[in-house]
This record gives sequence, structure tokens and C-alpha cells, in this order.
Amino acid sequence: MRAVDLIEKKRDGGELTPEEIRWLVSSYVAGTVPDYQMAAFLMAVYFRGMSEPETVALTQAMAESGERIDLSSVPGTKVDKHSTGGVGDTVTLVLVPLLAAAGLVVAKLSGRALGHTGGTIDKLEAIPGLRTEFSLPEIRAQAARIGAVVADHTADVVPADRLLYELRDVTGTVPSLPLIASSVLSKKLAGGADAIVLDVKCGDGAFMRTLEDARQLAETLVRVGNRLGKRFAALITAMDEPLGTAAGNALEVRQAIAVLRGEGPDDLRSVTLALGAELLLLAGEAKTAEEGEARLSRLLETGKAWAKFRELVSAQGGDVRAIEEPERLPKAKRVVEVLAPASGYVAELRAHPIGVACGLLGAGREVKGQPVDPGAGVELLAKRGDEVVKGEPLARLHVGREDRVEEARSLVLGAYRIGKERPAARPLVLARIR
Ligand code: URA
Repeated sequence: MRAVDLIEKKRDGGELTPEEIRWLVSSYVAGTVPDYQMAAFLMAVYFRGMSEPETVALTQAMAESGERIDLSSVPGTKVDKHSTGGVGDTVTLVLVPLLAAAGLVVAKLSGRALGHTGGTIDKLEAIPGLRTEFSLPEIRAQAARIGAVVADHTADVVPADRLLYELRDVTGTVPSLPLIASSVLSKKLAGGADAIVLDVKCGDGAFMRTLEDARQLAETLVRVGNRLGKRFAALITAMDEPLGTAAGNALEVRQAIAVLRGEGPDDLRSVTLALGAELLLLAGEAKTAEEGEARLSRLLETGKAWAKFRELVSAQGGDVRAIEEPERLPKAKRVVEVLAPASGYVAELRAHPIGVACGLLGAGREVKGQPVDPGAGVELLAKRGDEVVKGEPLARLHVGREDRVEEARSLVLGAYRIGKERPAARPLVLARIR
């Protein structure tokens, strides 16, 4: 087979066979198909889409590109969650220790920043000393010992996603339903969990902008995932404005710590509890979502989830003092305020420009492998519905890179719309796909 023939077939709207897809994925992982051909193929998929059989074949080819995490020797119910990506979405940092505190086992493979969205591994690495690269026996051992581990996609598990993810990040090919579905599901198939909840983000800061697209992705994920042999459910959650009050790696670690300590932004706490409750339901550990939420809330209030987070950070080599005293976390070189241009209420705060601004300030990458600045990001002092006064700060830019500060400032300013009246509250959970 030749890569160029498969690129042309997809470019012209054809349907690839499972053998063709398997060949392309394995040749790319082996290094015999170069990045530029794979990038052209991804762009063809972006424009032409894939049929469901093609998406299933791509998912399986990716899952089979490496080893699987076998947790059968680890006692307990194994669960996992995955978000399709958002801005300020630091749910994993709260939910993993929370579920482990509830007695479940979570061995989570996470990713780095993708496009304008953040990534759990970049966030965790803002904690000094914290390690995310683990071998499979290490992942298994930590899961058995403390019930929680968050690891970077290892070189051994789904190497195809690791490579494709990096390439998509810098080639404008992230927001494609079959590419997102195969990326998410291949990792979950290769992971050791039996029950998985997917957080399909919807809105300005998500890859799926409309409820219709998000529903199509969520239904595809749950249908294909269940067909491939695991229990999946999905929540579609709002990502019109960022979750919480900050976006950027160390800034988001701080807000995860606040939620784990029983404080923290309400929206982040609510989405975390809704996803956790759905997972308890799916795993047969709660009879209703309300019962699940009540149980998880107690674990936040009693400090058990916080204690588990400290155990997790320590097990992964992180400096526990930096989470106990978050002022020790990395900071940006300087902070610039963005002032309100008028008095009134925040009628809208768009997540996408905030995510792009974070990248420009140094929290994301423009080319593969670029280091990120852990202290960089945007702190949101006013969110939708808040009253603001002309000339007072709306947001703070935490500057890691000096060359794009003005661009970041105008993006953040443009993300806000100030109106005369307080807007009505909007729901955070938009739909449940079971
Ligand atoms: N999350 C993933 O793991 N992959 C994607 O493609 C998008 C979000």
C-alpha cells in the first residue's frame, strides 16, 4: 500500500477499508509514513469525515498499536473519566482522588494541552517534582497501593494516539468527530477500567460548538464504546465560558486544591460531582445520581478527597508542601490587569479566546514538544452574571512569554461582553447519554 493513495481516497470522499486504516496507523507508528503525509491524511479526514465502520476501525487500530493496561490483579471496581477538552477544565485533578477516596480504582492516562484547551499532564507537572511518565507495572502497582494514578500516555500504551495527538495539535485538525472519538476511545479500550464516563464539552470553548454536534459525538462515543466491550455513559456539559476562575497550569492546580479543600468555584465542583455520580451509577456503586452526589460531597467536606490528593501527589514524587501552601506553586514573571471598559454585568465570557490567550502567554504549544510555562495563564476575576465597574480589573494575565501579551490582552477583553442587566443562569449539565 502507499500512503499517498489512501490520502487521495479520503480527499476524494472515499471510504477506507479496515485493512487500509490498520496499515496507515501501524506504518505511521513504525515511522515509515512521515508526519507530512499523516498531516495531509488528517486534514482530509477533517473535511471529509469518516463513516462509523471507519471510526471503529481507526479506534481499534489505535488501541492495538501498543499494550493494554491489565488491572485484573488489582482488587476493586476500576473506573475512568475523560473529557473532550475545555478551558479551565481541571475536573480530573479533583475527580480522580475523589473517586479513589470513595473506594474505586482509577488508573488514568491523560494528555497535554491540545489546541486551545489545557491538558491534565501539563497541569500536574506544574507541581514541582511530580512525575507522570510511568511503566505499566508502575501504573498497576500505584493503582493497587493507593487506588489512583494519573500518567502520561506511556510510550507503550496507544502510541498511535500519542503521535497523532501531537500532530493534530499543531495542524488544525483537532475538531473532527472521528478523530476525537478514536482518540478518546482507543485510550479507554487500552486502559484497565470497566466503567467510563465521558465529559463531552459543548460551546464556545469546546471542539463541539453546538448541542447537536456534541450530542452526535456523545452518542457515537457511547455507542461505539459499548460495542467495543466496556460500559460507557456521557454527560454533555457547558463550555461556553471557562470552568472555574482560572485557565493555565499552576492556576488550575490552585483551583483544584480549593475544591478539594471544600472551597473553590461552584461550577467546577458541580461538574465534578455530576460526573462522579454518573460513574458511581454506571459502576453499580449508587442507586441514583443524587445518592452518588451526596456521597461524593461528603468526601469533599470531610477532607478525605483532599487527603487522597496529597497521597497521589506524594506517590508521584510531587512536593506536597507546594499543594499545602499553593503560593509555592510556579508563578508567572509578571501579572497584567485587563480593566472593564464599562460598568454593568458580564453578559457573556467566551471560553475560546481565553484558551487561545493562555497559549499566547506561554501555557500551550505552537510547535510539537515546545515546553510550557507552568505559571502562565489567565485569572478571571469576573464571570458571567457578575457585576463589574468601569476601570476595575476583569481579569489578570499571568505572563510567561512577553512577545504576545498585547494580543492576549485584546483576546481576553474581547471575550467579555458587558450588558446592562444580569443574565439568567444557564445549566451546566446539558444532557445525559446512558
Ligand atoms: N481528548 C482526547 O483525548 N482526544 C481528542 O482528540 C480530543 C480530546
